[in-house]
Amino acid sequence: MKQSCPSLLNSPIGVFDSGSGGLTILAGLQKHLPGESFVYLGDHANAPYGPRTNSEIYALTQRAVEKLFSQGCRLVILACNTAAAIALRKLQQDWLPEHYPGQTHSILGILVPTIEAVTGRPWLETPVVTARASSDRIGLFATEATVRSRSYDTEVGKRSETIRLYSQACAELVPAIEQSLRADRMDRLILGYARELLAQVPPSSNSRPLDKVLLGCTHYPLALASFKRAFEELLPEADRPDFICQPSLCALSLKSYLDRHAARLNHTAPNESLTGPVTTPLLLTSLDSAIDHSSLDSLAEQTLGTSCSFRRV
Ligand code: DGL
Repeated sequence: MKQSCPSLLNSPIGVFDSGSGGLTILAGLQKHLPGESFVYLGDHANAPYGPRTNSEIYALTQRAVEKLFSQGCRLVILACNTAAAIALRKLQQDWLPEHYPGQTHSILGILVPTIEAVTGRPWLETPVVTARASSDRIGLFATEATVRSRSYDTEVGKRSETIRLYSQACAELVPAIEQSLRADRMDRLILGYARELLAQVPPSSNSRPLDKVLLGCTHYPLALASFKRAFEELLPEADRPDFICQPSLCALSLKSYLDRHAARLNHTAPNESLTGPVTTPLLLTSLDSAIDHSSLDSLAEQTLGTSCSFRRV
């Protein structure tokens, strides 16, 4: 039975990704924030973002955020590690104050809660003290642009002197997931990336090669079973890493953000017509309506567990 849960916001929350990967984050948000309404935008026409230049990623992300604001969202989550790593800071610091002054609108990413989870410390805690930081070896799988940005390395490095991060770009994986590549071919592709990542890790006699694996692209949880099978094939059971679940840690972090900021976000709401939470999210895509959306719809249905239909925006 559906819980009745009060909404903290009187406007829908925008969730953006280059394609369908952000649906994994949306599923987490729906689970942990059942009272909120969501508008999801996938920029399928321009995906993947991973091989694009920083200025292309910035321009596409800015345009997507504007589209979500024009749908009545006043808070947009960049549910895309690539967009968050490349574009978020500039959007928050330069674009937002210039185009939406008065703090009526916000943009958040998913790197902050993920780095908090990886390092075990709050984002704003003064760095340097290392006593509480773990000495984990963490394997990061991400897009070329995220790996190139070194955002995870930099931010983790500021907070811990002992965590070792090994990054592996997976150039072919987003298109493979968007096209629902057959399971055996997906397994082979991911096995190759897992091998490359493990080859970077220096051998150690007294620990697992990797303590944790972070799927640092929101598409990758859609292929979680293949990642697990890869490590099963490559490592004995006792040496296999744990997986960090980005969707649920991001959802819990947003929940706490809303508890702190809902009053501000609601304060100057213009006459938006939303009267209460809409249980099914509005799913928008940049893909031409002449193109068949059925594969997008079925991936969304699988991820969200409800009948879905993308609309062109
Ligand atoms: N889901 C995006 C991410 O988290 C994928 C980016 C892409 O389109 O390459 O990075």
